[in-house]
Amino acid sequence: MTEIAIILGTRPEIIKLSPVIRECEERGIEYTVIHTGQHYSDNLDTVFFERLELPKPDYNLSVGSKSHGKQTSEMLADIEEILLDIDADIVLVQGDTNSVLAGAIATSKLDADLGHIEAGLRSFNREMPEETNRVVTDHVADYLFAPTEQSAEYLREEGLPDERIIVTGNTVVDALYRNQKIAEEKSSILREFDIIDEDYFLMTAHRAENVDNSDSFEEILSGVSIAANRENVIVIYPIHPRAENKLEEFGISVPPGIRLVEPQDYLGFLKLQANAKLVLTDSGGVQEEACILGVPCVTIRENTERPETVSVGANQLSGIDAEGIADSVECMLKTDIDWDNPFGDGTAGSRIIEEFITTSAEVKQ
Ligand code: UD1
Ligand code: UDP
Repeated sequence: MTEIAIILGTRPEIIKLSPVIRECEERGIEYTVIHTGQHYSDNLDTVFFERLELPKPDYNLSVGSKSHGKQTSEMLADIEEILLDIDADIVLVQGDTNSVLAGAIATSKLDADLGHIEAGLRSFNREMPEETNRVVTDHVADYLFAPTEQSAEYLREEGLPDERIIVTGNTVVDALYRNQKIAEEKSSILREFDIIDEDYFLMTAHRAENVDNSDSFEEILSGVSIAANRENVIVIYPIHPRAENKLEEFGISVPPGIRLVEPQDYLGFLKLQANAKLVLTDSGGVQEEACILGVPCVTIRENTERPETVSVGANQLSGIDAEGIADSVECMLKTDIDWDNPFGDGTAGSRIIEEFITTSAEVKQ
């Protein structure tokens, strides 16, 4: 029997791998989940296993927060040991975090095949740690599950062979389709925050290049506040612990109109997104979800590895200049919401697992 190992470590990986885990469960396929422990706070970790009704991981490496090198190398050594122990045939990683890089390198040295889910994304900004993680992972992977034709094209341009590339759509769609109605019915978040539909902006900002620099972080908050005041709305900002720590370290006071709240569970966050007038973010997953939900998005960055959201008219890159952010908001609020979701039909998880079933049947013949 093929042994599939699924490696995850952070909030977005838990969400985007949930459809793959569910697919294994429903098809009775054996799998092992290895959690690196890169995220460990309840509101970035346990709450997602609970809300998505996922079984507890089989292993938790509890690596925690460290410098990139220490964090990645500790994960790498521990993952190798487990993969050898369980004699994994196929290892799946998703996205671009340090957990992905560690899983990819560990697997590439063993007699197991590596599948990279969300392969071929490129921001073309090598200063982002995530860009290095993606590029390295793609180049050691045996199966490249590209979410769109655009990402498949980037892989081909880097010389990766066509037979490794499979366009599946993004599992973010599967997760969203499965949970959006539940979120709408079950979450009481709008009442809790005393807000009404379309009367607020939703913001997230956690990217190292934005929040680890005091001037940049202040400029971003100022731009968001200007935009909110112009539109006479409040901004709900579920703040990631990295950003929260930096606010405190830099002694930044949050401008009027921006309301900091705890990171939200997936259902609460989906409801907040679906009912927002507009989303401001530097998150990858949030750019995709806003686009799928039909909510205009402003990405507080100079570049994006999700260019499809911009091409369909759902997203605008504002940079981090305060006036630029406010102008982009004004522009996106005038946009017609008539775009199509470019990330697939919600069957990516099934296509990924199907690929392994087909391949192992071919090997047996
Ligand atoms: C990581 C990923 C990023 C992804 C994000 C998802 C890398 C290089 N970065 O960034 O691509 O978008 O996860 O949210 O892999 N912390 C806690 N509790 C936790 C985890 C972290 O308080 O459970 C705090 C710690 O102070 C830590 C800081 O957040 O130092 C940053 O955590 P880390 O995992 O290094 O990076 P993220 O910013 O979360
Ligand atoms: N998310 C959430 N609660 C929050 C903020 C984000 O559930 O308070 C979800 C969001 O719906 C998306 C994912 O987390 O699916 C994005 O994760 P994050 O922004 O941490 O990482 P990125 O996508 O940038 O790697």
